[in-house]
Amino acid sequence: MNQAETLKQWKMQKTAERPTTVMKQMSRKNTSHYAPVVLSIGSGKGGVGKTNVVANLAVAFSRLGKKVMVLDADLGLANVDVLFGLAPKFTIQHVFSGEKELKDVVLNGPEGIQVLPASSGIPELTRLHPSEKLFLLGEMEQLNHYIDYLLIDTAAGISDNVLYFNIVAQERIIVVTPEPTSITDAYALIKVLANRHDIKHFSILVNWAATENEAYRVYQQLTFVSDKFLGGLSLRFLGHIPRDEAVPRAVNKQKTVLQLFPESNASKSLMNIAQNLLDGGNNAYVDGNIKFFWRNLFGV
Ligand SMILES: Nc1ncnc2c1ncn2[C@@H]1O[C@H](COP(=O)(O)OP(=O)(O)OP(=O)(O)O)[C@@H](O)[C@H]1O
Ligand SMILES: [Mg+2]
Repeated sequence: MNQAETLKQWKMQKTAERPTTVMKQMSRKNTSHYAPVVLSIGSGKGGVGKTNVVANLAVAFSRLGKKVMVLDADLGLANVDVLFGLAPKFTIQHVFSGEKELKDVVLNGPEGIQVLPASSGIPELTRLHPSEKLFLLGEMEQLNHYIDYLLIDTAAGISDNVLYFNIVAQERIIVVTPEPTSITDAYALIKVLANRHDIKHFSILVNWAATENEAYRVYQQLTFVSDKFLGGLSLRFLGHIPRDEAVPRAVNKQKTVLQLFPESNASKSLMNIAQNLLDGGNNAYVDGNIKFFWRNLFGV
């Protein structure tokens, strides 16, 4: 099927049946809230706890009364689907190729959380015809009616794919641990986003620190090198999550720590961080006009 035919088929599908299953399950109450807040969660180094942060923040936001979608943009093995006990059959790639509609790809996770598996397919996006991108944009923008927060779990490192999501997000959470390599790699991510993409605001979340003081020192180190070598950036300390055995215990059961051990220290910190994020809405750390997230993502 050529691109024109694919587009035609999508258009026919669009006017036929909709919205169904998943869309129906999404509350329509908040329709005045058209623009979700888009948060990307990145790190320089891998294995620092990004996916756990994403999955738990999703649960925390949900418990704080927000409608949440997780965009799983990480190719890693222990991804969000695993933590939510889900087994996606399709990814966003199937939407781009015209094989599936968005509603068939979005999964229902725990506590009302929606999961959009996107670990493959993003590179294909760039190869779509502009009219196809516009059509998809319309599909995606419909999601804005149903969600308050879109959390993006990105892969580690500074590949184009990772940068892409960090660029289109409105707030970037950089997860870092006290390990020196984690700090230098977090700095490398901040540096490339600042120098190449003129991104000025970052929220720093320190995972795995023994105490809040240790976490704050990690944040200060990052601020120090950023001020010295980059300048003009603002890094805020979003909070810290202590090292807590409850986290891997929950992971082993394919659950988030907030679901299994809500009273654990890690869970309490995660709830505080979620509250900080809600309280900090519309502050200097939120870049750009949130309405245009999908537009930026599709490059149209
Ligand atoms: N605060 C914590 N205390 C104890 N263990 C933790 C904590 N945070 C994460 N972990 C453990 O660290 C491991 C890596 O976490 P996770 O998969 O979330 O990292 P990631 O940054 O997403 O990794 P990747 O870069 O591979 O995607 C997991 O086994 C998890 O249980
Ligand atoms: Mg991960």
